[in-house]
Amino acid sequence: MTLNRRHFLSLLPVAAVQPRVFSSSDARLLQQPTAASFPALRQQVAGRPLAYLDSAATTLRPQAVIDALADFYATDNANPAPVHTLARRAASRLTAARQTVARFINAPSPNEIIFTRGSTEGINLIASTWGAANLRPGDEVILTIAEHNSNLLPWTRAAKQAGATVRVVDLDEEGRLRIDQLKQMTSAKTRLIAFSHVSNVLGLVNPAKEICALARQAGARVVIDGAQSVPHVSVDVQDIGCDFYVFSGHKMLGPMATGVVWGRLDLLDAMPAYHVGSNMAHDVDFEHAAIEHGAQKFQAGTPDVAGPVGLAAAIDFLTAMGKDATWRHDQELVRHGLARLREVKGLRIIGPVSAPNRVPVFTFVIDGKSPVVIANALDARGIAIRAGDMAALPLLKRFGVSAAARVSAYVYSTTHDIDRLVQALADIA
Ligand SMILES: Cc1ncc(COP(=O)(O)O)c(C=O)c1O
Repeated sequence: MTLNRRHFLSLLPVAAVQPRVFSSSDARLLQQPTAASFPALRQQVAGRPLAYLDSAATTLRPQAVIDALADFYATDNANPAPVHTLARRAASRLTAARQTVARFINAPSPNEIIFTRGSTEGINLIASTWGAANLRPGDEVILTIAEHNSNLLPWTRAAKQAGATVRVVDLDEEGRLRIDQLKQMTSAKTRLIAFSHVSNVLGLVNPAKEICALARQAGARVVIDGAQSVPHVSVDVQDIGCDFYVFSGHKMLGPMATGVVWGRLDLLDAMPAYHVGSNMAHDVDFEHAAIEHGAQKFQAGTPDVAGPVGLAAAIDFLTAMGKDATWRHDQELVRHGLARLREVKGLRIIGPVSAPNRVPVFTFVIDGKSPVVIANALDARGIAIRAGDMAALPLLKRFGVSAAARVSAYVYSTTHDIDRLVQALADIA
């Protein structure tokens, strides 16, 4: 079965009927026609309807998220505190957003949800706090060759500062993680395993639960970079058994520069604060400060309230669509994308070319064509994709290239977008 945009978008208005915690604009949303769910798709680029296939970099936002942001600024705009009506409303919006995120990933407590500017800030937070307090000379930190710069540089720096060693797990020829090698590498010296649940280049879902079980046996901690998984895969942090899980709100319909760190409460309480200042301590004087507990300890200064409110609206939207429906849609796009891209002469996909356990992210090179030239030529046809080193140069080098093009689809993408892409690639190639 081939999905077209109208068919898939027919699932979307369900999102508007999902109860939203703060929803003065719900009635208006309900009246909106389906096609208005993602207003950015109403525009033309280069005289053609936009085919947005750059969702792994950042997704489009549905009207529900844009409205949630506008609604916060139009009504409850205040610095959260129990002191006046607007400040109280802002505080309860932030609390509700934290609860929504906690439910979404099955975190035991909302006080384990730290809001950040994205996965990069989240991983830096863990590396500079937990890493600084726990890594010692002689320890080993295990990464994979598929890591994004944002899950590579914070750990190579933290390891260097601590005198610890970084070890790197390889992939097989299809891009699957060498679990056999990881098993051999893991020992009593392993202090941490940090890996992406889904690589931004390969699109493959890594066996997170199995890796966490391995780490537990060795007494090591696990940090999972969920930037590319949470948008697609149902994540239950308790079932996975990790210690920290990090993701970006803006890659799952939420506002730009939003993200989350989930950390186990006992670890959050034991590690030092990231930033210090207002809102993360009380009874402060020059000799002493009583540091807050759990996530609150990591939220110094005036918080971003609109960002989490918008992220919660995005989660409501995705929840109303249903994880099963989005996964089925993803799988349709994966099958269609793999089948159709194979038709382009000289195109080589980097990563698995079979469908199971994969999200619709396709990284490729075309013989004799620069990825940037390809991206520009597609842009001239109204098709948005990414090109470059994907912030994962070791991985690209592993597959013999230093740059590639990447197509990434999401809930608003259709097989028709992929057909347009393949037609354009055929013209370019
Ligand atoms: C796998 C992965 N990790 C981390 C990041 C960094 O996320 P952010 O830019 O939201 O900080 C990205 C961004 O593309 C990513 O794909």
